[in-house]
Amino acid sequence: MPPELLADRPKSWTARIRCKDGDHTLELTDREVVAERLLRTSRKHSFDPDVDVDWDAPQDPDVWYLPPQLVSLYETPLWDGLTHRQRVELTKREMCSIASFGIWSEMLLMQALVQHAYRRRYDSEHVAYALTEIADECRHSKMFGRMVRTCGLRTHRPRALEYHFAKLFGAVYDPMPMFAGTLVVEEFTDAFQRLTFPDENVQPMVRQVTRIHVVEEARHIKYAREELKRLVAHASPVRRRAAAYALAQGTRLMATQVIHPSCYEAVGLDPKLARRVAARSEHRRDTMAWAFRKCTAFFDEVGFLDGRARDVWVRAGLLKS
Ligand SMILES: [Fe+2]
Ligand SMILES: [Fe+2]
Repeated sequence: MPPELLADRPKSWTARIRCKDGDHTLELTDREVVAERLLRTSRKHSFDPDVDVDWDAPQDPDVWYLPPQLVSLYETPLWDGLTHRQRVELTKREMCSIASFGIWSEMLLMQALVQHAYRRRYDSEHVAYALTEIADECRHSKMFGRMVRTCGLRTHRPRALEYHFAKLFGAVYDPMPMFAGTLVVEEFTDAFQRLTFPDENVQPMVRQVTRIHVVEEARHIKYAREELKRLVAHASPVRRRAAAYALAQGTRLMATQVIHPSCYEAVGLDPKLARRVAARSEHRRDTMAWAFRKCTAFFDEVGFLDGRARDVWVRAGLLKS
């Protein structure tokens, strides 16, 4: 790293934030130190999905596309009423629905990262890493699109409300909610994919795609966490709590939309009924709280569950009280 960028600056320090349950101490690391480490890992562990995934691998119609316990209806009467082939079809549809959601959120993240890099020193490691992450996300979105097509399906956009709102929201540069929102999506998909890629009962193509994503996302999560801590350390408690509350509401909405209703229709279920059953399912609520557990533990640390935000997470079934 250029030595002048770190001259006279500590490499790590602590900051205190005021939360309703008392003061929290944050361990902070200089942007350049974090980015340099992440760039080194990126040079060693990056993939080209066009050659690193066997796109022509045969797809056995009886093999899962997602571990069944991750399906929204698992352990409900609706799931019990499906044949094995219908259950496999539902795993395929839900996996592709999550991938479609992933592409949409990665596009928003890429846009935000460009805005973030634009405002910083272009020769810094911090900007070099932001550009590296954009390149990773470009490959991921292409990979997810190709995976959905290889499954014989099409991607879908979110509902008009989220689709148009994100166009407006995405045009505004506000890094604190942006990095927190990034963590919500990355930690949730990471949890699902960490169960998927080692599972020998899942389609080989899906296992390869999810493995690539898990390896490359680990550094994205690190970058977002470190940046969020720095931003939180400089924000007023009022502003942090407002951002945390808005994020909690956004996450609650996202959790209900990630599975597209057409997934249920494809296996002969009434989508409205299926969505209601999934929302009330104890197994689903436990799965979602489990998928968000690392994210919520970190949010607790950085004051993002402070105040009214925590109640929203708990009521949405995304955090155990
Ligand atoms: Fe990604
Ligand atoms: Fe990412």
